[in-house]
Amino acid sequence: MKRLDIFGALKKDMDVIEKELYRSIEGDDSQLAKTSMHLLKAGGKRLRPIFVLMGGKFGNYDIEKLKFIAVPLELIHSASLVHDDVIDDADMRRGKPTVKSKWDNRIAMYTGDYIYGKALTLTTNLKDPEIHRILSKAMVEMSVGEMEQIRDFFNCDQSVRRYLLRIRRKTSILIAVSCQLGAMAAGAPRVVSNNLYRFGYNVGMAFQIQDDLLDLCGTEKQIGKPPGSDIRQGNITLPVIYALQESEIRQPLLKEIDRIHTLNGQCDVSEAVGMIKSSSGIARAEELADRYIHKALNALDALPDIKVKKQLKDIAKFVTKRSY
Ligand code: IPE
Ligand code: IPE
Ligand code: MG
Ligand code: MG
Repeated sequence: MKRLDIFGALKKDMDVIEKELYRSIEGDDSQLAKTSMHLLKAGGKRLRPIFVLMGGKFGNYDIEKLKFIAVPLELIHSASLVHDDVIDDADMRRGKPTVKSKWDNRIAMYTGDYIYGKALTLTTNLKDPEIHRILSKAMVEMSVGEMEQIRDFFNCDQSVRRYLLRIRRKTSILIAVSCQLGAMAAGAPRVVSNNLYRFGYNVGMAFQIQDDLLDLCGTEKQIGKPPGSDIRQGNITLPVIYALQESEIRQPLLKEIDRIHTLNGQCDVSEAVGMIKSSSGIARAEELADRYIHKALNALDALPDIKVKKQLKDIAKFVTKRSY
């Protein structure tokens, strides 16, 4: 799996973050440390800590302080993935067996809790209560988003608006606060951290849309899990919502989704995937992702012209080309 192209000083500091990440989950219970390490060592793009450090460049950049935001954010993300794989009944992540499939659901639930706890331990190093408020609110929103997703499993009548609200909660807010908190912790002006939030929010929206597209159009090697996992699990994503709006596709696709539902996803889903791919749903979802990227780039306009601004632009553009 390809990492983001990070260069210069940031690369060196990401090595610091990587070491701190491993260190943060050591100890306490060797089983939980082992299962947590299993996920961390499987890879991942480390997008959230990268955004923290980049946000920090707009203030008094200090890796020794920023790491107390960057590491917890990656941990919160990781914990949510361990839990997500239980809910989605997913066997593969990052090309490796998930915690829930290598061990079991109970171990996965406590692994997630353990990682969340470790994230909290690290944030005690930060004195600004505003940072804690933002971080905990993001965690609350994520759980609400995941809950909404469970409620909407196999709901073929959901609107685009409902989908967008859900991905805002489950994905975008955490990416938004990664950018924002990096700047805040470095003492950057409020207008800067607000714009970085707006940037991260829009990147996050595009990122989840792209993730949902990749689940349909990517190969197993690219996405680290079998394609079509979302529809198998009943997760009705944007391209599917659009495909269902097409009169010739709607009925056969509904029938196929109903069959998958009845069989609990224990069946071939390639026909449904094929129908969605043959619809305009893919192109329309790509267009919407591009619109979010455009908004993200606009949010950068008001920011000071420092080197990292160009890197933020590059990452934003990378998101919709992601084929890792
Ligand atoms: C996966 O996030 C879940 C989504 C929000 C789409 P990432 O794609 O950032 O996961 P890793 O950390 O790189 O594996
Ligand atoms: C993202 O949802 C998970 C969270 C934001 C917690 P997905 O279910 O789409 O992510 P993947 O595809 O499993 O990585
Ligand atoms: Mg999932
Ligand atoms: Mg999920």
